Amino acid sequence: MSASSRLRKCLFPAAGYGTRFLPATKAMPKEMMPIVSKPLIQYGVEEALEAGLREMAIVTGRGKRALEDHFDINVELEAQIQGTDKESYLSGIRSIMQEATFTYTRQKAMRGLGDAILTGEPLIGDESFAVLLADDLCLGEGQGVLAQMIELYRQFRCSIVAIEEVSPEETHKYGVIAGDPLREDLYRIEQMVEKPARGQEPSNLAIIGRYILTPDIFDILRATAPGRNGEVQITDALAEQARRGCVLAYRFKGRRFDCGSIDGYVEATNFCYRHPS
Ligand code: G1P
Repeated sequence: MSASSRLRKCLFPAAGYGTRFLPATKAMPKEMMPIVSKPLIQYGVEEALEAGLREMAIVTGRGKRALEDHFDINVELEAQIQGTDKESYLSGIRSIMQEATFTYTRQKAMRGLGDAILTGEPLIGDESFAVLLADDLCLGEGQGVLAQMIELYRQFRCSIVAIEEVSPEETHKYGVIAGDPLREDLYRIEQMVEKPARGQEPSNLAIIGRYILTPDIFDILRATAPGRNGEVQITDALAEQARRGCVLAYRFKGRRFDCGSIDGYVEATNFCYRHPS
C-alpha cells in the first residue's frame, strides 16, 4: 500500500439524481443547488482547497454539464459585467479557478457510492485521496472538516471516515460504525453497517460525507459484492479494509447540514444567510 503523507486530490461523487429535490433537479444537477448564492459543489471545493487539496476529481453523469461550466470561464457574462460593481460577485469563483484543477469522468449507471468512487480511479491513481459528498455541507470549527481529517491522516496513514452522533431514529439513513475508542473523538472501527434496519444499528455514530481513503480501497471495491439496495457500498469496502488493517472514525468539530433533504437544505440556507462567510 502506498500511503504518502501528502494528499493532493479530492474526489466528488456527483452523479446522483437528487430526486428529493424534483422538479428543481430535473434539468439541474443537485450539486448546483445554491445555499444563498453559492452552489453546494463550490462549498465543497472551497473546503478541499482550505485543506490543501488542489486537484478536484469529479465523477459526473448525464445532465451534469453545469458542473463543468461552473468551474470554467463564461466569456459573454464576464465581458458584460466587466468594470461594473457586479464583478465582485465572481471574485470567489475566479480565485478557485486559479488555485484548483478539475478533471471529470462519468459514471454510466447508478450502482452506488462504492461504484462511483471506483469510477474515479483513473482520476486518482495510486495515491491516498479525500472524498467529499457535496450534499453534506460542513462548516468546521476553526478548520474545515477535511483539514481536520488530513491532520489525523498524517499521523495514522490509514483510511478515515468522519462521523457524527445522530438520534436512533435517524441511523437507518446512514452508514453506522462501532469501534474501539482511541480517544474521545477517535475510534478504531470494528464494525460498519450500511443503512441498518431499525434496531439493528451497532451504535448511533453515523458516517457523514467526508472520507480519506488509501488507494488499496480500489482493489477492495472491485471485489465488493453489491450490498444494501443492490448497490456497491463504500461502507462494505471500508469494513473489509478495517478487517485487513485499520480504519478510523473521527468525530469532527463543526456543524453539518444534510442538504440532501429539504429540511437540512432550508436549515443550511437560513444559517448561511444569517452568518455570511
Ligand atoms: C452515503 C453513504 C452512507 C453515508 C452517507 C453520508 O449514503 O452510503 O454510508 O452515511 O452517504 O451522507 P447516501 O446519503 O448517499 O444514501
